[in-house]
Amino acid sequence: MADDPLVVGNSTDAVILVGGQGTRLRPLTLSAPKPMLPVAGLPFLQHLLARIAEAGITHVVLATSFKAEVFEQHFGDGADLGLELDYVTETEPLGTGGGIRNVLPKLRGDTIMVFNGDVLGGADLGAVLDTHASSRADVTLHLVRVSDPRAFGCVPTDESGRVTEFLEKTEDPPTDQINAGCYVFRREYIEKIPGGRAVSVEREVFPVLLAEGAHVQGHVDNSYWRDMGTPEDFIRGSADVVRGIAPSPALPGQRGEFLVHSGAGVAPGALLIGGTVVGRGAEVGAGARLDGAVLFDGARVEAGATVERSIIGFGARIGPRALVRDAVIGDGANIGARCELLNGARVWPGVDLPDGGLRFSSDV
Ligand code: GDD
Ligand code: MG
Repeated sequence: MADDPLVVGNSTDAVILVGGQGTRLRPLTLSAPKPMLPVAGLPFLQHLLARIAEAGITHVVLATSFKAEVFEQHFGDGADLGLELDYVTETEPLGTGGGIRNVLPKLRGDTIMVFNGDVLGGADLGAVLDTHASSRADVTLHLVRVSDPRAFGCVPTDESGRVTEFLEKTEDPPTDQINAGCYVFRREYIEKIPGGRAVSVEREVFPVLLAEGAHVQGHVDNSYWRDMGTPEDFIRGSADVVRGIAPSPALPGQRGEFLVHSGAGVAPGALLIGGTVVGRGAEVGAGARLDGAVLFDGARVEAGATVERSIIGFGARIGPRALVRDAVIGDGANIGARCELLNGARVWPGVDLPDGGLRFSSDV
């Protein structure tokens, strides 16, 4: 019945797609898959897993491919998070649709909630499941509105909220409603996805379902939403979690302008603002200025250096009075004193820039 109470828990499985290569976040994704990069000091996936647990779903299947082993090494059977985690690995990436189809043998229920593994969101997952149940849809898509839909799946709906088209990354979007990367499937619609080959859920599965007349419902809301696929979004998303703008049940407690994790050292006179996070064992020197900085574990920012809207990789070092703005510094890199890294600069892991070795001005 349409007004049946929603049943989650054992009857609803979650599937998280985490097999992408995270190319736009290189060089950070050379050593870790995108969903494992620390956001506000915790692996990104931990925030999503906590939201899934909070919604009452306990069985979660991770669809892995690129750097598959890292996930299981970190999360194990999921008991620490109150979850039962399963892992299914694609030896060759099967795409988003192929990845969903590939986990079919692990699914237990008739309702499957699928997540892109790189979306920081605040949607009420229970409400998405309610829409799916009350509209008796075959598939329900969570949709949000963005100012520029061209980088996403554009998803127009009719007056009843039913999806009329799915246009992945179109140059001429007919609406600002986009695919937020969270779907509810009736199990048989996963069984229909062709097996044994790469399939895109966005370019093949959804357009075919719509052409065949399946009931694909949209669930639109105004929740916090950000795809974490680029350095700019990753930095903003991390800062939003630190400040409490993006909800995360994985990090309970008060939020403020910065977050310093255990074992980190911040010298007196350092300024930490803009949602800066200082990872475990990281060090910040006297008079350093960190504004919207993401310091991974073991990173060091020396005295008088400035880091703005940038990611400093595991164990990387920013020398005294260096300036790092809108940049990504790879794991273990060393940025010498007074160097200037600006405007989209990406330093590869282990690179050693000597003191004063890269500047945009002629003074030393
Ligand atoms: N298992 C598996 N196998 N996972 C994959 C594969 C694969 O072959 N390819 C990608 N993924 C995972 C990625 O790890 C990521 O979590 C998710 O699928 C989406 O891939 P992205 O590469 O991040 O896609 P996108 O951001 O360009 O676009 C997608 O997300 C947008 C919302 O964030 C699409 O679903 C768009 O329609 C959507 O608007
Ligand atoms: Mg993405």
